[in-house]
Amino acid sequence: MRRLDQLLSNLGYCSRREARDFLKKHAVTVGGKPARNPSAKAAPADVLIDGEPLDHPDGLLLLINKPLGLVCSHEEREGPRVYDLLPERWRARNPQVTSIGRLDKDTSGLILLTDRTELVHKYTSPKHKVPKLYRATVDRDLSPELIPLFAAGTLVLDGEDAPCAPAELHLFPDAPRTAELVLTEGKYHQVRRMFAATGATVLTLHRVQFGRLTLGDLKPGTFREVTESEI
Ligand code: URA
Repeated sequence: MRRLDQLLSNLGYCSRREARDFLKKHAVTVGGKPARNPSAKAAPADVLIDGEPLDHPDGLLLLINKPLGLVCSHEEREGPRVYDLLPERWRARNPQVTSIGRLDKDTSGLILLTDRTELVHKYTSPKHKVPKLYRATVDRDLSPELIPLFAAGTLVLDGEDAPCAPAELHLFPDAPRTAELVLTEGKYHQVRRMFAATGATVLTLHRVQFGRLTLGDLKPGTFREVTESEI
């Protein structure tokens, strides 16, 4: 059971302060009875707003195909944000919808967004070691010697003390400047810095997979919900 004003503000319908007005303007019922008192407690499943059940009362988990040029930060001054692709009510949720880890502005591909703080902690915790698959193109032909180098778990990035965890590198004989890299951690700009440590500059970077989740045929700039059975 949660207070109605809290429930409405958690789910992005209005702020707690606006709840009394919201209840006047909308037909809100709890268990079929009209609700007027913002401090009354209700089980989310019993609430209807203008005849509709509450919008994702148990939280959102979205898989988005991030286009280039958007940031995962919430700071508007850093440029257009991935959150700007979401419906307004979802952007108004509290806790706010946030990304699980980050992709750079210049990286495209799969990123998860959620307002479930426990999932953010779970999937960004170093303990969890979710494998993340990236596809990169670089400015020079890649040598097969990089495969054991990345796999060894000894590569130390510029400015770091601890080495990178072992990472799986796949090369493509027909495309010597393309690589796929599987990381189980997420140091700042890690893929770009790992290639930089070998003298190569990453030109394009796209995340293809996060754990078992893939983009499928999701178009850039679009998202879908992730079901409980997928995580
Ligand atoms: N590594 C990077 O360098 N950038 C990303 O966005 C993700 C991983």
